[in-house]
Amino acid sequence: MNPSKIVNIADMREAARRRLPKVVFDYMDGAAEDEVGKARNASGFRDITVTPRYLVDVAERSQRTEIFGQTFASPFGLGATGMANVVWPDADVALAEAAAAADLPFTLSTAASSGIEEIAAKVPDHFWFQVYAQRDRNVTGDLFQRAADAGAKVLMVTVDTPIPAKRERDIRNGFILPLKLNLRHIADAARRPGWSWQFIRNGAPKFETIARYADPNASAQSLAAFIASQVTPSLTWDDVGWMRDAWEGPMVLKGLTSVADCELAKTHGCDGVLLSTHGGRNFDTGPAPISVLPAVRQAVGDDMVVMLDSGIRRGSDIGKAIALGADFCLVGRATLYGVAAAGRAGVDRSIAILQDELDRFLGQSGNPDILTLQQADISHPAIDQ
Ligand SMILES: Cc1cc2nc3c(=O)[nH]c(=O)nc-3n(C[C@H](O)[C@H](O)[C@H](O)COP(=O)(O)O)c2cc1C
Repeated sequence: MNPSKIVNIADMREAARRRLPKVVFDYMDGAAEDEVGKARNASGFRDITVTPRYLVDVAERSQRTEIFGQTFASPFGLGATGMANVVWPDADVALAEAAAAADLPFTLSTAASSGIEEIAAKVPDHFWFQVYAQRDRNVTGDLFQRAADAGAKVLMVTVDTPIPAKRERDIRNGFILPLKLNLRHIADAARRPGWSWQFIRNGAPKFETIARYADPNASAQSLAAFIASQVTPSLTWDDVGWMRDAWEGPMVLKGLTSVADCELAKTHGCDGVLLSTHGGRNFDTGPAPISVLPAVRQAVGDDMVVMLDSGIRRGSDIGKAIALGADFCLVGRATLYGVAAAGRAGVDRSIAILQDELDRFLGQSGNPDILTLQQADISHPAIDQ
């Protein structure tokens, strides 16, 4: 990676695209069906304007933010991304350590290549865990217990994946789990020697967090089948009640965009919601989280944490979300592109780009402190009608 050529997250995406075989890049970059949901996430941010206020002293600027009793360097963390190690060996470790070094939280996915215990030991003060409720409640309960024992500060329960999504790039490319390269992939991988050597040396990524629940002698294929079989289409609010009882710390429902669902999350005792469309990867038809944020904030009031992800590619996107009432944001691909392009150095660079852009956003909009942003003069299609 040549840092002088990586000026923004779009450059980082391009650097990742050049380094990865198409089948891997498309797994990371792709979304569901026509990918209009993914595009809507991006245009949702673009359609918002913030009118700057001048003649305000912005010599000192702070983006430090408190969430669930802990203060972080910025109002964003790294979201859960399963199978990240397919883009770089030990990508989970690079992402987690870069987050902790920047004093930001890192969320480990249930579908991560690395284990709960390994990552928690490396970044104990910055460790959040994302759980997919499993068909077998005992497995879910055990995941909760392990996350609690490992000291996870926040539990994110992802609810936006009742059934598998139709990701057409993956279907066309023949992307299957565990990743197996067919002849077409191998021809492409040959033009990507950096990634290919790493893949040959390290093999296909594992599922350290979840693999222990399958038959220990299971082949890679039957492990993948086991993991798929654990996705449950029957999760309901009753299960949320059960999970609330089973987890003592802060619990956030991830993947909501309906105001009514956010209100239900509150009445079911959740501490927060993460407005998200999984980066457009699941339901192509849903609204951009940023477009529903003002209504959600109004409905749930100030005593519930509202977080947001999906489509964040600029520090100003984070600023806009905070100005519209979010308490915190998560990024998915922005830092994944970084690790895919250059490992730990790439994640560091993605984080630094977002922090620098948010700092400029604060200075230029006349908000020396992130805390004053919620009074910013903001124009948003959903609240301007
Ligand atoms: C490659 C990839 C894998 C993901 N895996 C998970 C996952 O295992 N669990 C989960 O809750 N969300 C997962 N997500 C969704 C992210 O947590 C997040 O919601 C999304 O990436 C945000 O959108 P953005 O990529 O536009 O920032 C994944 C996203 C990507 C790109």
